[in-house]
Parts: sequence; structure tokens; C-alpha cells
Amino acid sequence: MDKLLISGCGPLDGDIRISGSKNAALPILAAAILAETPVNLSNLPHLKDVTTMLALLRSMGVGITIAENMLVEIDISSMNEFEAPYDLVRTMRASILVLGPMLARFGKADVSFPGGCAIGSRPVDIHLKGLESMGAHIEVDGGYIRATAPNGLKGAHIFMDVVTVGGTENLLMAATLAKGKTILENAAREPEIVDLANFLVAMGAKIEGIGTDRLTIEGVAHLKGCHYRVMPDRIETGTYLVAAAASRGRITVRDTHADILEAVIMKLEEAGAKITLGDDWIALDMEGKRPKAVNLKTAPYPAFPTDMQSQFTAMNAVAEGTGTVVETIFENRLIQVHELNRMGAQIKLEGNTCIITGVERLKAAPVMASDLRASASLVIAGLVADGDTLVDRIYHIDRGYECIEEKFQALGATIRRVAQ
Ligand code: EPZ
Repeated sequence: MDKLLISGCGPLDGDIRISGSKNAALPILAAAILAETPVNLSNLPHLKDVTTMLALLRSMGVGITIAENMLVEIDISSMNEFEAPYDLVRTMRASILVLGPMLARFGKADVSFPGGCAIGSRPVDIHLKGLESMGAHIEVDGGYIRATAPNGLKGAHIFMDVVTVGGTENLLMAATLAKGKTILENAAREPEIVDLANFLVAMGAKIEGIGTDRLTIEGVAHLKGCHYRVMPDRIETGTYLVAAAASRGRITVRDTHADILEAVIMKLEEAGAKITLGDDWIALDMEGKRPKAVNLKTAPYPAFPTDMQSQFTAMNAVAEGTGTVVETIFENRLIQVHELNRMGAQIKLEGNTCIITGVERLKAAPVMASDLRASASLVIAGLVADGDTLVDRIYHIDRGYECIEEKFQALGATIRRVAQ
């Protein structure tokens, strides 16, 4: 099983390019099921989760053609299976996103019930309740969600009790081909949902309120394929910026933009970073200074994103002062604190809050990744620790960070993948 070996280093310095967004690519790949003619996607990140979603589509008979630099054509005309099997869904919960499109397009879908994961129970009750209100018949049987809509879906006025990214995405996709109007209230507003909505509109969907918490969708009879470029990954962008801040460095991240991660940029400035913004790049300079500790509380967009929490926890671990981090989205997403404390961090955990007293440097140790973003926090910690840190179970990290060691090497880090 591969591990990452990271030697503590000085300030990161350099330029890197940001890949396409994992969390936009996954729903957009699922949404391709809705199109009657081929879809062409560019800027897809070369990640384990994207490979898994492509494998899932292929397992259902979908034609997938991958040209050089990950230009992908998806042709649904050969789709002949309507089941998302357990062996794929258990490796990627986002497989649930094929449920809405399959039901809307074909009136049937069997999707293995996604389990929880390290960060929480991850229920899908809102997805299912919303689809039932659109006329779907749903049973859970043998660990599978068995859904049918023999007369097609019909528009409904849906109020989602919890702000859910995946729930909003599934219901938005389903509504595009439902008969009549659907209103989604209390919808999530993440930039990845805006990207999905823009893709659906490019295929001919009628959607109003894009970017707001109230989406109105007028169902249409057909959607057609289109060419679409997936947005930049805002969490990858934030991760490298935080790594530069923690290491007192100076970097520029390209092929990205700041208006999709304003809360993160604000926190970095609070930590003492000098930030310069371009049309498609962001520069961060710590001027060699140690970051100041920041307080943050995760919440749905546009508030501070839960996917950036563990990276800032790592930065706070070596910051000047004491910072408080409150995780409100997932019940177990402070799990990386224990591994950071094994590296000499001074973090107290109290329920969904951790209080972090910064130390000058961490100490290298063998650590274990538990989930995607916790892995990123361990890599950041390894960069600012004395000695060589070995991060185990880095299959988590390969799900969401394209070429992570190459990108960090380009910023001057000493990091390599070791097979052990
Ligand atoms: C998406 O997960 C992202 N994944 C997650 O990123 C991200 O952390 C999360 O949104 C929150 O921003 C993808 O986009 C592929 P949710 P999702 O439904 O859709 C509760 C990463 O690191 N809930 O918005 O699964 C749920 O328990 C990943 O890239 C219900 O109660 O998240 C949670 O407390 C990790 N019932 C809250 O909503 C439901 O039916 C937010 O979950 C659905 C969700």
C-alpha cells in the first residue's frame, strides 16, 4: 500500500496549476445520463473518484471515449443497465448521484445504498424523500435503493430540511426532465452546484435561481449533449494556499479564481497572508512570517467550507496564538486532530470544537490518513514538521488531489510516494 514520505521543509515557493473540480465533475458526469446525444467534457481532473464514476457509467453500458488530456466523450445511447453496484458505490458515495438522472431519463434505477464513511453517517433521506414527492416509488431492499417512476417524474414543491449538496444535485437533475415545474427550497448554493446547473442549461434545461437557495426548474421533454469545461477545484486551490501559509511561503495558483472561495481567502488574510488576485490566478505571500491563528466555523456556502476545515486545523497547529475550529456539517470530521497531536500539536477536542494552541514546529511521525481532507492536513503537517513524516492509507488522498506529490515538489517540498 503506497505511502507518502514528507520531509519537513522551509517555506513553499513557486507556481502550480489547479485541476478541474472533483465535486463539480462527479455530478456533471452523472448528469450526462440525461442527454440524448453525446456529451463532451474538458478539464476533468485525473482522480480516483472520477475514474470510479466513469467505470460506473461504463458498467451500465455507457460509451466512454477518453482522448488525450482527459477530454471525455460520453454517449448514453448504448446504456443498457440501470444498476449502480455495491462494489463501486462502496468505494465512492457520490455514485448516488446517478439515481436522479436514471429515474428521470429511464424511469428506473437500482443503486446500492451508500454507507457512511469516516466523517459521518452521510444519510440520503432527503434525496429519497424528494424523489418520492416527484412521483418515484422507492424501496430499500437487500442494501439497494430500488426506484421506479413508470409514468415519469412530475414537478413538485420540495423543502429540504437540511442544506445538502448531493440532495440538491440529485433533485435538480431529476427535475430537468420531470413533467411540470419543480421548486427546490433551502437548496445548497455551492459553486459546484452552479457549475452543474450551467451544464444542465447548456444541455437545454430550464432553471431559474441558479446560485440561490431557491431553484425553479421547468421540466423539458429532451436534453441534448453539449461541450462543457468543468470549473476549477476550489478546495484544491484552498489546500495549496493554506499549505503555503502554514510554511510561511509564497506561491501562485493558476487556472483558478478567487470568487469561489471568498471565505477561505478572508481567513488566510486574517492569518496574515498578503493575497493578490488575478482573473485566473491567486498569489499568496506570507513574507516569511509565521501565520496567526484563526477561528472558524464550518457552514454551507458561502460560509466557511467544511472541506477546508482540516487544512486550517493543520495551519493553526503551527500558528501564533490559539485558534478555535467548529465543525457543524459532519459529526466526525475533527478526526485528524488525534494524528496531529501525535506530531506534537497542542489540540484539545471538545465535541464538535477543537481548540488549537500553536507550536513553532511539529515533530515528524508515522501517521494514518482517515479521509480525503484529513489526509491533506497530514501532508501540510509533514511539511512543517522536523524530520520525515510517513503518511499511510494515502488512497484517500488520491481520490481528490491530482498529482499531489508533483505539485508540492514544484513548490519546493521534499515529498515522494513510497510503496511499503
Ligand atoms: C458534498 O457531500 C461533497 N462531496 C463533500 O465533499 C462536502 O463535504 C459536502 O458536500 C458538504 O459541502 C461531493 O460533492 C462529491 P451533504 P454530500 O449532502 O453531498 C446531511 C470532499 O471532501 N444530509 O451536503 O454528501 C449530512 O449528514 C467531500 O470532497 C442529510 O441529513 O454532503 C450532512 O450533515 C467530503 N440527509 C449535511 O447534510 C441527506 O439526505 C451535508 O451533507 C443528505 C445530507
